[in-house]
Amino acid sequence: MAREFTRVGVVGLGTMGAGIVEVFARNGVDVTAVEISDAALERGRVTLTGSTDRAVAKGKLAEAERDALLARVDFRVGLDALHDVDLVIEAVPEHLDLKQRIFAELDRVCKPEAILATNTSSLSVTEISVATTRPNQVIGIHFFNPAPVMKLVEVVRTVVTSADVVADVEALCERLGKVDVTISDRAGFIANALLFGYLNHAVGMFEARYATREDIDAAMKLGCGLPMGPLALMDLIGLDTAYEILDTMYRRGGRDRRHAPAPLLKQMVTAGLLGRKSGRGFYTYERPGSPKVVPDEYTPLAADAALADGARAIAKVGVVGSGTMATGIIEVFAKAGYEVISVTRGAEKSAKVCEAVKTSLNKGVVRGKLSETDRDDALGRITWSATLEHLADVDLVVEAVIEELSVKKALFASLDEICKPGVVLATTTSSLPVIDVAMATQRPADVVGLHFFNPAPIMPLVEIVQTIRTSAETSATARAVCAKLGKTGVVCGDRSGFIVNALLFPYLNDAVKMLEASYSTADDIDYAMKLGCGYPMGPFELLDVVGLDVSLAIQRELYLELREPGFAPAPLLEHLVTAGYLGRKSGRGFRDHTRR
Ligand SMILES: NC(=O)c1ccc[n+]([C@@H]2O[C@H](COP(=O)([O-])OP(=O)(O)OC[C@H]3O[C@@H](n4cnc5c(N)ncnc54)[C@H](O)[C@@H]3O)[C@@H](O)[C@H]2O)c1
Repeated sequence: MAREFTRVGVVGLGTMGAGIVEVFARNGVDVTAVEISDAALERGRVTLTGSTDRAVAKGKLAEAERDALLARVDFRVGLDALHDVDLVIEAVPEHLDLKQRIFAELDRVCKPEAILATNTSSLSVTEISVATTRPNQVIGIHFFNPAPVMKLVEVVRTVVTSADVVADVEALCERLGKVDVTISDRAGFIANALLFGYLNHAVGMFEARYATREDIDAAMKLGCGLPMGPLALMDLIGLDTAYEILDTMYRRGGRDRRHAPAPLLKQMVTAGLLGRKSGRGFYTYERPGSPKVVPDEYTPLAADAALADGARAIAKVGVVGSGTMATGIIEVFAKAGYEVISVTRGAEKSAKVCEAVKTSLNKGVVRGKLSETDRDDALGRITWSATLEHLADVDLVVEAVIEELSVKKALFASLDEICKPGVVLATTTSSLPVIDVAMATQRPADVVGLHFFNPAPIMPLVEIVQTIRTSAETSATARAVCAKLGKTGVVCGDRSGFIVNALLFPYLNDAVKMLEASYSTADDIDYAMKLGCGYPMGPFELLDVVGLDVSLAIQRELYLELREPGFAPAPLLEHLVTAGYLGRKSGRGFRDHTRR
């Protein structure tokens, strides 16, 4: 028989604690909610009522339900109030000594049979448990932010947590409508171990002025379908909490440099810029605790104002290539009203690309997204050619040929001879240095990267890659073109992986390393990222879609360019590729796709 939890205690009503109180009270469990002072208690109460009022306003909770929920919560100052609870969840700041002190006190105050749980993200549950006389009743119950929304709970069992305590907590999670993954006590557990290297890397990019905060966040939202960008997520987590988590992971998790908190984080915490909770972090918020971002001195100018800085007029666009990307890009430009000259290596290839563009446009018509007239107009704007010389008078060339530097360099040298002066020459390379391509011409200032995502007609993001020779005018032109295409253009420097791949692939590689270390299963890791962090796909699902060979090649490039030891490709990834397990396209990758 599973243990009955009729009353639980929550210690600390900050970002997480207030949410955890709401989860319990919503599911009919009485809660004693404890803070350190009257003022902190009042803040916690305001957070809870604010959240439940919003749920009522959104029609997700009836007024009577809200009142019943709030009536289940007993707000108290001091741990003594917890003498009669069946379970306590501690959610105080991420400091080991503080948590140990609280657990020693809880051990004294709580009933002998009560379970003592910590919501720590990175500290050792084992080290916290030894501050009590009942380490076998101590467990980690790691909720995700915002607790009422995120479905995942990581249940962390130490080597001494008793099996029935684990089973009772798992049953409780189910009662709360959560999905739990039960794991052992390792820094960062599943989700944070995969998340925080990525978040810290994003902060590093921002700190190095590699891209703006808006562009870094837009890139990950639009390029990977994440619910929020990394810097907005840091603000939600709280920069002080994020700092402590990184610091602990660095020290506990093998001193991986990628977890050494970016220096900027420490400065921001010291300056009181803690994120949403203090009203300012990477972004500025309407007031402390508010999710609403307001403009500040870093907010970029409106698109039209930015375009005033010297963008060239573009009417005629050449697209070179006949693959998936070139086909999509031709369609995107033609639909946006540009005159397009498609250049392939022969009439046969041109016919194939033309057919593919027609099929795709027809699909748009069938789905009601495009009128027949618009389709015909778009097709009418495209000229099919097999001769580069036809690009003599275009205003912009977008190159999307095979990903081989020698081929791209030869092509750019030819374009340099053929095209009129003032043309913007763009490459869609996803992994080669744009500067290498630029230097194959006599006009490197006019060369820029335009990294479209696949499928180009659908994906809303384009990375605009500036080399150290790209002129401001070229860059402004690229931004204006992206805006006219209806895409979000994010500007970044010419470094391996640009923004999206540089942030995405090391995370995928880390997931493979976690699997390889037998810390968890592919299913649980996928669940953790989807249900804990709101990712549209788990890392193994995504690797199988992208292709393991493609992922390995990108990871190798990142490792070779940045020489970051943590970026070394996971041996398991290499072995799978060697074995021909490339993902969906070969029928088998991390999962077997032939039997589905
Ligand atoms: N922020 C996140 O996204 C997130 C997600 C999952 C887990 N966590 C973990 O949850 C825990 C809490 O983090 P947070 O972000 O909610 O922190 P927070 O700073 O927002 O809140 C901590 C609260 O604890 C209170 N507190 C401090 N000392 C106390 C004491 N002695 N007794 C009672 N209350 C006390 C503070 O007044 C504050 O309200 C940490 O262990 C953190 O790692 C955080």
